[in-house]
Amino acid sequence: MGAIVLRTPIPGPRSLEILRRKQAVVPGALSVHVPAVVASAGGALVHDVDGNTLIDLSGGIGCLNVGHGNRAVAEAMKAQIDRFWHTDFTVMPYEPYVALAERLAALVPGAGRKKAAFFNSGAEAVENAVKFARAFTGRPAVIAFTGGFHGRTLLAMTMTSKTHPYKAGFGPFAPEVYRAPYPYPYRAAEGMSPEACGQWCADQFEAMFTTTVAAESVAAAVVEPIQGEAGFIVPPPGFLPRIAEICRRHGILLVADEVQTGLGRTGRLFACEHFGVAPDLVVLAKSLAAGMPLSAVVGRADVLDAAGDSTIGGTYVGNPVACAAALAVCDEIERLGLVQRAEALGARIRARLERMQDAHAAIGEVRGLGAMLAIELVEDRRSRVPAARRTADVLRTCVERGAVFLRAGLHGNVIRLLLPLVTPDAELDEALDVLDEALAAGPRPTA
Ligand SMILES: Cc1ncc(COP(=O)(O)O)c(C=O)c1O
Repeated sequence: MGAIVLRTPIPGPRSLEILRRKQAVVPGALSVHVPAVVASAGGALVHDVDGNTLIDLSGGIGCLNVGHGNRAVAEAMKAQIDRFWHTDFTVMPYEPYVALAERLAALVPGAGRKKAAFFNSGAEAVENAVKFARAFTGRPAVIAFTGGFHGRTLLAMTMTSKTHPYKAGFGPFAPEVYRAPYPYPYRAAEGMSPEACGQWCADQFEAMFTTTVAAESVAAAVVEPIQGEAGFIVPPPGFLPRIAEICRRHGILLVADEVQTGLGRTGRLFACEHFGVAPDLVVLAKSLAAGMPLSAVVGRADVLDAAGDSTIGGTYVGNPVACAAALAVCDEIERLGLVQRAEALGARIRARLERMQDAHAAIGEVRGLGAMLAIELVEDRRSRVPAARRTADVLRTCVERGAVFLRAGLHGNVIRLLLPLVTPDAELDEALDVLDEALAAGPRPTA
């Protein structure tokens, strides 16, 4: 017997009733991907209020590397709550914040002294990384990349490059944000090799200092080592090292946004390790505290020390319960060998997705690193026209059959896996069977 249990259609009657109440009091912008209201969760399984069990390969959008309901994380949070749960670190400090800063400072790549500051969300950490970079360099400008996603607050939204649904109608945007091309080899000009695509993008990055913004005005380049929301786009090996070298030459700080790639998902603790790049600052969130609101800027002590007294902070930032959760997450990643497990899961998933590619002409590309893997769906492999409608159909069919995958991609035609790294092989295989069947199913009738 498999892990998926479907006692009712998805959504079941209790979910439907709660979703109806939601509709009355929650803004429509907060639409839900899975219309099953959660009752409890453990590992990679989510149980809904109608008694259904789904396999969750979305992991709360990549927050649950250690799995839903991880006991060690739960115990660490409970122990912290029993002591105290809020002071504001800058009013009365506490050890879990300091211990976590020590831990992360020792983990991020690169030589030299490191420090860490904590925030609540990925967007907030991205914005603060830019503040640190501006304070250190005395320069105003920021370079972000096509396809980049950095969050929904003003500066992070400005740095994000997908217009719909993230930006359209929400201007005016923050000034001094410039955009460089990010290599997307699958959609590069015909005949262009991935290496040439990476080189062309890096050349364009440097050319911007002539055509667009003076290098001496640029504080930082903020880059996802593998783009997440854009559809798990892996740059060719030479791209990031060249961006790092150009930045170094011009005194521009390199900020790696590892919010989605971080903490083991790609088969390395940090994705930038795959490329031999040590950024000046690393931004973390999501799996850092297993979904508790916590994000971090970790990196060069001289950069983080450049911001003046009280210029950085926030009432809730670095909450002690979230810090306790993050310390337990770091322990669990080591104890369970999750970085290695990501490699093994990745090999298993990739092999299966490649078999699916042989069977389903709609799969244009299988890509990613470690367990951060995705498929891009196209109308046909020659034209590579994005198959967004088909992608939505497949994802919906998967949900109705008890397996949760997520959508991504600039064109909304990528299916990505952000599974808990503790997912047992049998549950993974079962969910991938569902995906395979959903790809085989014909188009759904239009609603
Ligand atoms: C790479 C990256 N940066 C930043 C963010 C924003 O994080 P948050 O939603 O916690 O603000 C995300 C969220 O998906 C992300 O994937």
